[in-house]
Amino acid sequence: MPNSQLLARLDELKKQRNAVILAHSYQIPEIQDAADYVGDSLGLSRLAADTDADVILFCGVHFMAETAAILSPGKTVLIPDGNAGCPMANMVTARQLREWRDKNPDATVVTYVNSSAAVKALSDICCTSANAVEVVASLPREDKLLFVPDRNLGHWVKTRLNREMELWNGFCPTHERMLPEMAVEARAKYPGALLVAHPECRPSLVEMADHVASTTGIVKFCHDNPAKEFIIATEIGVLHPLRKANPEKTFHPLTVVADCPNMKLNSLEKMVWALEDMEPRVTVPADIAEKALRPIQRMLEIG
Ligand code: 13P
Ligand code: SF4
Repeated sequence: MPNSQLLARLDELKKQRNAVILAHSYQIPEIQDAADYVGDSLGLSRLAADTDADVILFCGVHFMAETAAILSPGKTVLIPDGNAGCPMANMVTARQLREWRDKNPDATVVTYVNSSAAVKALSDICCTSANAVEVVASLPREDKLLFVPDRNLGHWVKTRLNREMELWNGFCPTHERMLPEMAVEARAKYPGALLVAHPECRPSLVEMADHVASTTGIVKFCHDNPAKEFIIATEIGVLHPLRKANPEKTFHPLTVVADCPNMKLNSLEKMVWALEDMEPRVTVPADIAEKALRPIQRMLEIG
């Protein structure tokens, strides 16, 4: 079916189901353009908590849809492709976190939202890449902190706050593919361009960046900054909102291999099918959802 027909059908189904479409900025351009809202994990969780739609079609990866389901227990949450998971989120299981916590009974567990609902349920507070520094800064300095699952985001927060924190050894395979050598090469090729990186990148690359931020933070920084040329060190999907909002500026991906295969499983066709069939649904068992809600809410209360 051509895109115009898919978009018309999507519009029809959206009205029929009273659905809202949320899309992460790593989704393919066609999905971002079809969505009601595009943003980062933090922005989309806030929208999911506030919407009065009956159905949330979450175009992103599983943990994001799960967070929406926890925040909006009365709503139906759909994801276009049920296999769109996040490998980083799978790098720590609830059993592993329980064991780590049991070995550190006095510690506070700070959990990046790129994690399962079961892991969140064992946590004290959640964070996203947009608020990780503020979340950790809100915790008493004398507290012992355990951070899961992203070692790179954890390292960045530690450096920003000059604060000790034990880090789980997880990472994002897509961001890990970006290397400092690539930044040296890109800077030589595009002299004067600013290097902007996501904190999921390795520390050796983050250290070289002119600015470090979440996906929405990257879009805002590049919009507000007077520079005309930028090198972008995050998943390549974000180039779409960057170019759309700043047609007079130039954006170079640090590398085109920074393409998250999970984010790219979703498509316009699958969005239509999901709203037609009301499947695949993302649900969280009530006992886990209840425990996971508290650390997510604690995070949302911070700024
Ligand atoms: P954001 O917190 O910027 O939305 O990033 C989420 C993510 O999955 C990055 O890889
Ligand atoms: Fe997970 Fe990385 Fe893909 Fe984000 S880009 S969803 S962290 S695998």
